[in-house]
Amino acid sequence: MKPLIAGNWKMNGLADAASEIEALIAKMDGSAPADRDVAVCPPATLLAGFAARYSDEAIQFGGQDCHAEASGAHTGDISAEMLADAGAAFVIVGHSERRADHGETDAAVRAKAEAALRAGLTPIICVGETQEERSTGRAFDVVRTQLAGSVPTSGPRSGPLADDDYVIAYEPVWAIGTGLTPTLEDIAEMHEDIRERTGAGARILYGGSVKPANAAEILRVRNVNGALVGGASLKANDFYAIVAAAAG
Ligand code: 13P
Repeated sequence: MKPLIAGNWKMNGLADAASEIEALIAKMDGSAPADRDVAVCPPATLLAGFAARYSDEAIQFGGQDCHAEASGAHTGDISAEMLADAGAAFVIVGHSERRADHGETDAAVRAKAEAALRAGLTPIICVGETQEERSTGRAFDVVRTQLAGSVPTSGPRSGPLADDDYVIAYEPVWAIGTGLTPTLEDIAEMHEDIRERTGAGARILYGGSVKPANAAEILRVRNVNGALVGGASLKANDFYAIVAAAAG
């Protein structure tokens, strides 16, 4: 399976962050590696500009969230159609920060993922347990429930959901931005459990403190088909080192 390395810039980046995209493209010699997909999900304010300036280059772009509806009276929200129109190929949905900060339920996340499919985007659907859920032995139950509730049951245009219509990202909440990561065995166990509940060909990314120093070993774990990278995606040098670690 072709790995996907996706950067989630979260609420970081002003116009001058274009220099990081340019540095990343330069490091990739200006062309997409045939054996890996590389995407950056910048803030919405930067998305259209980046996608217009750097289309046909080595990287794809994505949004960080979308509304479930295509248009309407939803002040401040952005629809999947708008992201597609801005040049996005992906959209992250159900990130734990949105589940926590905005009270997004599994049903809301599924509606957003369905909106992404409707708009021709690939949703990156995030799941993951908190520290308390892990320490009380509930990590697998929590992630199974999130998967069952958040992943669409049908694909674009009401056809069946195909494995390449969507991406799952397993991001243990306690590993995000903390420098902590699960053991490789714990990652393997959870990814295997997710695999049993998703298509054999669907990509399952790992996210949570992926850094240049640990990327290669994490990306070699069975059923890890790429990474969703936060802090280390903000600097071209670090993000490129993770992209390079995904080389076949
Ligand atoms: P960090 O890589 O900063 O831990 O963030 C992970 C994440 O939340 C990506 O979506």
